[in-house]
Amino acid sequence: MKNIVLIGFMGTGKTSVGKLLANRLGYGFVDTDAKIEEEAGRSIPEIFASYGEKYFRDRETEAAREAARLQNTVISTGGGIVLRGENLRQLRQSGVVIGLTASLDIIVERTERSDERPLLENLKDRREAVRALMEQRRGLYKQADYTVDTGGLSPLQVVEDILDYLKKKGDLRA
Ligand code: S3P
Repeated sequence: MKNIVLIGFMGTGKTSVGKLLANRLGYGFVDTDAKIEEEAGRSIPEIFASYGEKYFRDRETEAAREAARLQNTVISTGGGIVLRGENLRQLRQSGVVIGLTASLDIIVERTERSDERPLLENLKDRREAVRALMEQRRGLYKQADYTVDTGGLSPLQVVEDILDYLKKKGDLRA
């Protein structure tokens, strides 16, 4: 069985939806950010602060390559996985790519509460920075085979929506 790869901006729910989806299907679960942290023995903010973004992106490409070798696995990715074409190329070869989206308001709200995202720290106008970054990446996330707007949906409802799509597509038996 193919993998299910979740892509989308920060705060669209990739990790929580991914875990639930893996549970429902009896699949394995991998989060590329968690893999990077595990291997570095440091948190993402620490990695950015100590080694910079380029170093993080290189580790992210390695994590994507390793994840693409798996089977029967739900793969949650970091929001920037789409920044390098090779990442999504590798992951797509291993399965179906599902995009998660949400409105600017929801993303701003969902990402406000955490200090785990270095790209969203120490900004004068946080909302404007999120808007600009979303705009910049919009076309990249459109490469998903199927996209779910997670605004107003619980993670479980998002999972149901994805399962419906996979059943219709014939990737899952009912
Ligand atoms: C990033 C998203 C983060 C994490 C890193 C960079 C991005 O993951 O990989 O902070 O460039 O969008 P989440 O999407 O899980 O927050």
